[in-house]
Amino acid sequence: MRTPMIAGNWKLHKTCSEAVELVEALKQAVADAADVEVVVAPVFTALTSVAASIDNSNITLAAQNCYPQESGAFTGEVAPSLLKDAGCSYAIIGHSERRQIFGESDEFINQKAHALAAADLGTIFCIGETLEEREADRMYDVLRRQVRLGLKGLDTAAMASVVVAYEPVWAIGTGKTATNEQAQEVHAFLRALLKELYDENVAAATRILYGGSVKPDNVDGLMTQPDVDGALVGGASLKADDFARIVNFQSL
Ligand code: PGA
Repeated sequence: MRTPMIAGNWKLHKTCSEAVELVEALKQAVADAADVEVVVAPVFTALTSVAASIDNSNITLAAQNCYPQESGAFTGEVAPSLLKDAGCSYAIIGHSERRQIFGESDEFINQKAHALAAADLGTIFCIGETLEEREADRMYDVLRRQVRLGLKGLDTAAMASVVVAYEPVWAIGTGKTATNEQAQEVHAFLRALLKELYDENVAAATRILYGGSVKPDNVDGLMTQPDVDGALVGGASLKADDFARIVNFQSL
């Protein structure tokens, strides 16, 4: 019942013309992909150009961030409704780079989750533990806190537009992927947590993506795990061939 999602987080890469070139190549390469939702998240300045390129394709658009206010004196920020206006279907929130480099708190991320729900925009909600937290046996406490506070106050209806992305911080951009078993163990924990916080239906319907050094050569094993519903891909999403191979994963 959960359609897999493969989302490419382009981070701070690509000019407008480079972004269009990449998505044009990707469009060809994933044209036949069925039963999988393909998402790309370019930088803000390339959103409208990429939106024009993917019109009438099977690729949808996400922003990498948003600000939890609709308008006002917030220099440099972008509101959910403006992202929607630019052609986005989703925004990524809670990415570990935003938590770590920009000091974003669970409470601030929660405000963004509410703002996205109010704007009727889908949310890709990222969580993940650091290596230190995992080694100190605090991983599940951290993940529980991130989910509880990040999704606080979102009702069951709002959860229909939320995709959770589990991204262990130690696996992001390091070439170190969680093993299939490590990913499955955490995803099963997260699904049980959604059942505890919401109900069986929300737990069964919510997609939980894995992120952290997903590549063409490890995606198949990850996607074979019963609770892994897709991938949030950084580095490998910048090459059309690699990303297309990930989109066309083979469940073993
Ligand atoms: P990576 O990034 O695939 O380069 O590890 C993943 C992410 O940060 O979403």
